[in-house]
Amino acid sequence: MESFVACLCVLALGMCQIIIGQALIPDSERKVKVLDCNVTGEWHSELGSQLQLSTVGPEVRGVYTTVQESTRGAAGPNREAKVVGVISGGPQPTIAFSALWAKGSCTTWVGQCFVLPGGVRVLKTLWMLRSAAESSTDNWDSTRLGADQFTFARGVESP
Ligand SMILES: *[C@@H]1O[C@H](CO)[C@@H](O)[C@H](O)[C@H]1NC(C)=O
Repeated sequence: MESFVACLCVLALGMCQIIIGQALIPDSERKVKVLDCNVTGEWHSELGSQLQLSTVGPEVRGVYTTVQESTRGAAGPNREAKVVGVISGGPQPTIAFSALWAKGSCTTWVGQCFVLPGGVRVLKTLWMLRSAAESSTDNWDSTRLGADQFTFARGVESP
């Protein structure tokens, strides 16, 4: 009988601790924070191209370093091009951006930034690459279409 009472006491104390413990957790830690899909920083495509992005309001600026070229040298000696575009507001913004390559071809990407479960940021995009055609008769096969998924690699270092 004595041990039964002691057991009840221990149980009751335990319950008290759980209730007090709950009350002491601040509101901010109890809710799972939904991370915004901030695009500022460096992204890597699944094929190894690099994309650096920053935003000013609804405008996007950056640099694209490609590992692919439609023809040798098309993207220039550094395989690098400036990027300009637009981005929506909201936690998982839509985005469109373009790059002009050294030999006159250009690419545009359109997509959306998603935060995957676990917090990984991805940019899911479709792209079109336009090569300069010699004449209108070569127009029909001068645009390529594909998909790129970029994964967030690192943010901008704080000063
Ligand atoms: C995104 O993060 C950068 C720092 O990496 C910050 O300067 C910027 O204000 C953030 N943008 C938004 C829309 O939260």
